[in-house]
Amino acid sequence: MTKTIFITGGAGFIGSHLSEMYVNQGYNVICIDNLVSGNLENLAQIRDHARFTFIEADIRDHKTMLALFQKYRPNIINHHAAQKSVADSVENPSYDLDVNLVGLMSILDCIKAYPIENFIYVSSGGALSKKIEGSEKSKETDTPQLISPYALTKFTGEKYVEMYAAQYGYQYTVVRYANIYGPRQVPDGECGVIPIFLNNILADKPSILMTYPDMPNGCTRDYVYVGDVVRINQLATESPTNTVINVGTGEEVAILDIYKEILTVFEKDVAIFIEAPRAGDVKRSVLDATRASELLNWKSNVSLHEGLLELKNHLTITK
Ligand SMILES: NC(=O)c1ccc[n+]([C@@H]2O[C@H](COP(=O)([O-])OP(=O)(O)OC[C@H]3O[C@@H](n4cnc5c(N)ncnc54)[C@H](O)[C@@H]3O)[C@@H](O)[C@H]2O)c1
Repeated sequence: MTKTIFITGGAGFIGSHLSEMYVNQGYNVICIDNLVSGNLENLAQIRDHARFTFIEADIRDHKTMLALFQKYRPNIINHHAAQKSVADSVENPSYDLDVNLVGLMSILDCIKAYPIENFIYVSSGGALSKKIEGSEKSKETDTPQLISPYALTKFTGEKYVEMYAAQYGYQYTVVRYANIYGPRQVPDGECGVIPIFLNNILADKPSILMTYPDMPNGCTRDYVYVGDVVRINQLATESPTNTVINVGTGEEVAILDIYKEILTVFEKDVAIFIEAPRAGDVKRSVLDATRASELLNWKSNVSLHEGLLELKNHLTITK
């Protein structure tokens, strides 16, 4: 029997790539998005597919969510809708709390009446990183720093998903993403540094590196190409792990080095200036993805250089 999947935030950067994958894998795909940062153009390739339905709705609207559960009876939920910016969560913690936790509860509550088989919850390996020292990498078992409202809501969300799994009998996987990049990412949010730099570089405008005085090359991050993220979602859909899984490359890259790599790949030469850091930013982040390899046989396949080349090819084709 064809399984039905709800993908929340399915019109966004990552969600739209997942919506495409699910349609191509033969699922009935119900994409739920309020388009606050998503875009219907992201769904152009599947919009008219017989197994794809787009619903413009806010996940916090519990009445509507309940009606959608009643109508479509999903087998699987893949929850990508979120307030995704660390900086915005510091500015407006109530909105972050509302979307990331009230929104999650609005969905989880539906499961009581309409049981599901599998829940995929997206969290943030970067924001939940502990303070790493030397050559350490963040592990799923570490105690997170929790220095932003976003980190708090994502971490609490993980716990709700786990607790409800025990109470209501579904399987689940929490995917803790590093910093994801690729086609359709827009320059905003927690990890939009690649599209922000790229937009500036292509317009020959200088960029700003926001960093701490003891991190002259910028904070460090772990960058994963969106194609690798699609693959781990497919694996977690087919084989739920009932645990938290880091989705990272294990490569720690300073943000200034990202900038230089973009200049190289796009064959440009544009200046960058240094300013003070943003509140809530962790200094260093790199994820140990051993668990993903052991449980799902997943490893990132695309290097930063290859991913930036893919992005360049995509921009050339869509220009
Ligand atoms: N991009 C990254 O590097 C990264 C890293 C870690 C975690 N994440 C998580 O991945 C998920 C997707 O992020 P993205 O980068 O694709 O961002 P995105 O903004 O492109 O996608 C989020 C989607 O959710 C939708 N949305 C937001 N609030 C909603 C609401 N109340 N009701 C319905 N839809 C709503 C938006 O319209 C958008 O389409 C988020 O949960 C984010 O926290 C992303």
